[in-house]
Amino acid sequence: MKKTTEEQVFNYDTINSLLHRRSVREYADNEVKKDKINVILLAAMHAPSYENRQPWHFIVVTDELVLKYLKDSLQDNIKINSKAAIIVCGDTEKDNQKGWWIQDCAAATQNIMLAAHGLGLVSTWYGLHPVKHLKESLKKNLQLPKNIQPFSLVTLGYPKKNIPDELIPSRFAKEKVHFNGW
Ligand SMILES: Cc1cc2nc3c(=O)[nH]c(=O)nc-3n(C[C@H](O)[C@H](O)[C@H](O)COP(=O)(O)O)c2cc1C
Repeated sequence: MKKTTEEQVFNYDTINSLLHRRSVREYADNEVKKDKINVILLAAMHAPSYENRQPWHFIVVTDELVLKYLKDSLQDNIKINSKAAIIVCGDTEKDNQKGWWIQDCAAATQNIMLAAHGLGLVSTWYGLHPVKHLKESLKKNLQLPKNIQPFSLVTLGYPKKNIPDELIPSRFAKEKVHFNGW
């Protein structure tokens, strides 16, 4: 049968990944192997950044004690029950004092999630910046240098259950699109 234009578009792996990634907060017990984490980090470091300054650092957390510390100390809306997490940090010394690092770290965080999705993993982005008490707690307990700012924490793992495609509706909103001006 002839494919509709939409189906033809959805055949592209990248678009498919973008449309089907969803935040997942409940994880199975399986460990995330190091080779997958390395691919994810590679993808993160291929994010675009202001003047290609790549002002990021990544703290990979797989140790149960550190994961427990994160779970206990961050609490509130950060529910860490995954076997792995990556804390994306920005180096303000690599910034030109204008705050571009924030956008750079956001791009890296998105790359982490899309790479995870491509590897059959699921993830959730938990915002740390600009929440002062979360950042300060992490800075102190993980002994981050002064110039390193925690930006986001991404939980990573295998899903406890799969999300059926019908629960992933299109978010296309034509009223949000403006051609050549508002
Ligand atoms: C900057 C940012 C901060 C976020 N912080 C949290 C958070 O603190 N807790 C949480 O459960 N989800 C958090 N999320 C995930 C969003 O809730 C989620 O992306 C949104 O509901 C859309 O769902 P989706 O990721 O499945 O498309 C955050 C996402 C972003 C981009």
